[in-house]
Amino acid sequence: MLIPNRHYAELKDSYLFAGIAKKTKAYLENHPEKRLYRMGIGDVSLPLCPAVVRALHAAADDQASKETFRGYLPECGAPFLREAVAKHYAKRGVALSPDEVFVSSGASDELGDLLDLFDRSNAALIMEPAYPAYADANAMAGRNIVRLPSGKENGFLPLPTDNLEADLIYLCSPNNPTGAVFDREQLRAWVDYANRRGAIILFDAAYEAFIEEDRLPHSIFEIDGARTCAIEVCSLSKTAGFTGTRLGYTVIPKELERCGMNLNAMWVRNRTTKTNGVSYVIQRGGAAVFTEEGQAQIAENIRVYKNNAKVLMRALDQVGVWYTGGRNAPYIWMQCPNGIGSWAFFDLLLNRIQVVGTPGAGFGACGEGYFRFSTFGDPSDTEEAARRLTEFLGRI
Ligand code: MLT
Repeated sequence: MLIPNRHYAELKDSYLFAGIAKKTKAYLENHPEKRLYRMGIGDVSLPLCPAVVRALHAAADDQASKETFRGYLPECGAPFLREAVAKHYAKRGVALSPDEVFVSSGASDELGDLLDLFDRSNAALIMEPAYPAYADANAMAGRNIVRLPSGKENGFLPLPTDNLEADLIYLCSPNNPTGAVFDREQLRAWVDYANRRGAIILFDAAYEAFIEEDRLPHSIFEIDGARTCAIEVCSLSKTAGFTGTRLGYTVIPKELERCGMNLNAMWVRNRTTKTNGVSYVIQRGGAAVFTEEGQAQIAENIRVYKNNAKVLMRALDQVGVWYTGGRNAPYIWMQCPNGIGSWAFFDLLLNRIQVVGTPGAGFGACGEGYFRFSTFGDPSDTEEAARRLTEFLGRI
């Protein structure tokens, strides 16, 4: 008889955001007259910018004519997009060759797929609170997970210690869910640790476009030594509103080798076998993000989300609630008031003021007692949610 992957039995019944969607759906079914203010999942509320939309239309037209029609594209990504990404990095002083850039269908898909590169006996280090897909994807593969808790005392930015045993290290900066960002010195500590140990860092840079302080690095490849120990996973989901359009890219330097095997060459082998790549139309839309016009337009959208963050931060300041994030990241991570558990706080906000957030416990045990707000919502909904929060938190 066929044996299914038994590791699925070790997973929670449902994925965090699916669980929240189920709870909010049930609430609306029971209270059809109510309207929800959604600041739970980090899904964008603004449409794609005009430069991208124009490129998508033009690419669809290309597919309508024999002269411009494109069939299969190179599996690792269209050269025009790989080059555009490499040029984008060059502007920040990071030299990449286009064949170190792999086009993907998004960071979450890629973070799971990349695990194909690593032996199952490796231990995966996840600093918590963390995006829950890291642990779940490794649990599905039966990999041993080492959890490194963080908290207020280290600003949710834990550093490596000599007794830490890890082979595959997840770093997310700006962090989902806490909004904390590693500075150069802190990232250097992780890069040195990984090189010393022969470990590999999976650097999730999905939120780099939200960094506003110049001292903070956007890419791990801004740190000396990263080319021999890191893979960077990026996404246009939050940067350019591609959550429904789906596009990302991954950087694997040519120097990255372990046990005489080259990770860049392995990923070429993987992609050319397991995918026919991302659609031509979407890659054309993605390339438009890296034009001058595209960059100016996405900066304008990010400004709207940052303003949402300010509105929420002001509300929390007004009632004296402790929080972090919001400045260099699209998430605000607040402490639940009066020692309330994070799922109990979720229920309270949903039932009393119809505001939806994400319970900290969903990001790991040390997230208990905290709560996350996404700042990607509609601005007027965010204003109303902030008003309700101030009023509610002021009286409990
Ligand atoms: C989140 O809310 O944590 C993210 O939107 C989830 C994701 O990017 O998949």
